[in-house]
Formats: sequence, structure tokens, C-alpha cells
Amino acid sequence: MTSESLREQHESLGRAVTKLISEQAAKLDSAPVTSPATPAELRTLFDEPLPINGMPAEDILAQFARDVAPHAMRIPSPRYFGQFNPTPLAIGVWADALCSALNQNAGAWRNGPTSALMEDRAIRWLCELLGYGPGAFGVLASGGSEANLLALKCARDSVADNITGLGMRAAGELVVYASEQCHFSVEKSVDILGLGRKSLRKIETDSRFHIRLDLLREAIDEDRAEGRVPCCIVGMAGATSTGVIDSLPELAAIAREHNCWFHVDAAYGGGLAFSDRHRDKLRGIELANSITFDPHKWMFVPFACGATLVRDGGSVLRDSFDISPEYLSEDRGGADVEYDFFRYGQMGTRRFNALKLWMAFKFMGKRGYAETVERHIELTEYFAGRLDELPDFERVGEIETAVCCFRYLPQWARALAQTDQDRVQQALQQRIEKSGQAFFPSTILHGRRALRVNINSYLTEARHVNDLVELLVVEAQQIQKGEF
Ligand SMILES: Cc1ncc(COP(=O)(O)O)c(C=O)c1O
Repeated sequence: MTSESLREQHESLGRAVTKLISEQAAKLDSAPVTSPATPAELRTLFDEPLPINGMPAEDILAQFARDVAPHAMRIPSPRYFGQFNPTPLAIGVWADALCSALNQNAGAWRNGPTSALMEDRAIRWLCELLGYGPGAFGVLASGGSEANLLALKCARDSVADNITGLGMRAAGELVVYASEQCHFSVEKSVDILGLGRKSLRKIETDSRFHIRLDLLREAIDEDRAEGRVPCCIVGMAGATSTGVIDSLPELAAIAREHNCWFHVDAAYGGGLAFSDRHRDKLRGIELANSITFDPHKWMFVPFACGATLVRDGGSVLRDSFDISPEYLSEDRGGADVEYDFFRYGQMGTRRFNALKLWMAFKFMGKRGYAETVERHIELTEYFAGRLDELPDFERVGEIETAVCCFRYLPQWARALAQTDQDRVQQALQQRIEKSGQAFFPSTILHGRRALRVNINSYLTEARHVNDLVELLVVEAQQIQKGEF
């Protein structure tokens, strides 16, 4: 193979893939959001022996078009109202292709000089956006789960000297506090970090699903009295199930009072910072020692792209993660070590993810993001208003971001036991998922099943919301006829 024949391959594959991608885009408004295929059916589709002889790329792409694309969950659809999964920006999709073509290793500066400087730039933009000062820094991560893990590692290591060396022996019995609405990655993180899942205190929330500060204080006092060490308070800025934002200034004050690390999980809600109209909802986020923010949620960057930001600069991450392998530690007399991103987190070889983030920032601009975030919240409020007109639907919680939770509770269902009412919600969710005309999940709020709609596509318009309301009414009537 010569570089000339590689060029030819790229040209012909590029043409074919462009066609596939634009055909997919053209279908987004009309094609079903979900596929009816079962895992067993899909297994037969892909049940092939290990390929011994290579095959032409055209045939592989034909199989993609026949077997893969039609059964994909149509996350980029304007009728997908699922879990903070966006329609990716076209520039982000193509940035991914460019990133793969350059194949920079964004771990060590020497293996990705421009990638390192662009990551530095994109991270600084994120810090500025969220209200951090110029000394703040951070690192890109694979998503919010990893970003939370990195932040909680910094929190853990801040408790005593040499926890990185000695492990939990040097730490005492550490406790982490978060709302019961926190993302599951917080629980996974305390396990991975050796604190154990039981070290996470899931604090009850109030009627609007915000962490209850009185119960948080009580839990901290009790742990202290029993000799445990409060290590970190996690505030939610855009909780997964409800999209709501905890009282961040109050959480910051409690953390300061108890000498705890304060982490804000703004994986989703951080997007509010783009909008002058909504950014006040994040007030207090700038006080956090660390922030999780996911460009692959409300910034429409294709998966996977998360970020951990730290208020007090890159040295905080490096104190927790730095290591100097012989083969990556040339002293070039410059500042390369500062740009070795493998020193700031857990990954070694890293994708040049900064490219798609940098391009997305430039393509949308702060203003473009602000308009989209504002439109999403308006559409969500519009959806909530339409539900409020329907006596059989009852809203749960309030709209703080672009998430609306609700229940279907017609007169006949109000007399049912709670477990049966929960089954009614699941039945409605399932009917809609199977219809292929829209997708949203259900969740559990204060122990009761609820339905949850999130608008996270820049393609979604009022007509899609109207269609969703009609679909809810039509499918709900079927359940009334006894089909649950
Ligand atoms: C609030 C919050 N934090 C963290 C995460 C984890 O992000 P990821 O799925 O990118 O790992 C999610 C995912 O939805 C989330 O909603």
C-alpha cells in the first residue's frame, strides 16, 4: 500500500460514507425512532464467523446500510426525548473523521502537539464559561462518569498527604454526600476509589427534588460524631431524572464550614451557562473545587466527550494523577510536561477529542448555544403547559432545564395501588417506545414511577412537541381500554 493508494481509498470511502450520513440525516424527521428488533434477532444478523479473508469496503458499507443503521436507536431524531443524548452537530461528526485521520495521541504532548494546545484552549473556554477564574484548568474525559471519578479522586486525595501512595490506609473512613438524585457514576466512583458504596450518603430531596440541606447537615454531624471524615459534597446542576439544580451557594457554604471538597455535577446543566437568561440558575458553581461538564450533552458534540474542571488549577489534577514513565519523560527544556494530558487523568492513549469540541465552540459560538438552550427550555415549558391542559396527566416537579417529568393518572387509575399506578406509567412508556414515533424513558421519583421527557435536539420544534402530546393521548386511551 502506498500513500497514493490510501488517498484513493479515502476518496472513494469518503464519497460513500458522505452519502450514507446525509441519507441518515434526511430521514431523521420521518423514520421511526426505535427499532422493533429483539436482541435475538440482531444476534442472528451479526452471527458470522471470524473473517479470514478481507472483503471490499463497499460490501462492508452495504452491510452497515442494511443491518446496522436501520436498527440503530435514532438518537439524533427530533422525536428522541431520551437521556441527555443530543443530535450531534455535523461539524462534530466530521471533526471525528479528521481526528481519526490525524490519529494524534493526546496523552503526551510530543504525540499530539496541536491536540494538546487545543485541549488547553477548549478547557479554558469551558472554565471561563462556567465562571471559573483564569487559574482554573481541567482535562477532557470520556464522559460524565469518568469526569466524576476524576473529580472524586481529587476530593479523596485532598483529605490527607500521600493517599495516592498509601491508599485508603492514609485516609480514615471517608464519606461523600450527594442528593438521592445523583447520577449512578458517583456511587460507582466511591467504590472504585476504595471508599465503598456505603460511604455515599444519598440525601433525600424536597418536593422539587433538590437536596435537603437540613438532612445534609444532620448526616454530616452524625458522621463526625461517629469518627468518620466528611470528604466531599456533590451538588447536582441538572440531575439526570429531573434536570433540577441543587442550591449551590448553600452547598458551597456547608462544604467550607466542614472543610469538605465541593464538586458540582453539571454534566448536563452546565449548558445553562451559555444563556444570560438562565445562567443565574448555576449561581455558586464557581465556588466548587471541581465541576463535571459534558460537551456530549447540551453542546451537541458527538459521543464521547466529557470534562473535569478544577478551580485551583492543573496542579490539583496532577497531584492526584501524575506519573513519569521513562519513555514519556524527555526533558525538552520547555513546558511540554504541562501539556502532557496523561498526567491529568486516568487515560494513557487519548483521542484528539478537543478537536470536535473546539470546532463546535467555534461553529455555534456562545450566542448560538444560548439560543438553542433557551429554545429547548421554552419548548419544554410549552410541553408542560400542554400537559397541564389534560386532566389525565399530572406533572411532577418543575421545569428548571429542558426536562419535564409527569404521570398518566386518569380517574380510573387514581384508585389503584401505587405499584399498579407505576405499571400504568411503564405501560404507556412501552407503548410509545414500540410505536417508534417517539422515545422517552421512565424513572423513579420519590419511590414512584414517572415519565420523563428531555428536549436535547436542535431539530426539535413545536410541531414535534405537539405530535408527542397527541401520541401520549392516543396511546394512553388504549391503556384505559384495559391494555396494561
Ligand atoms: C448528571 C449526570 N452526571 C453524569 C452523567 C454520566 O455521564 P456519561 O453517561 O457521559 O458518563 C450523566 C449521564 O446522563 C448525568 O446525567
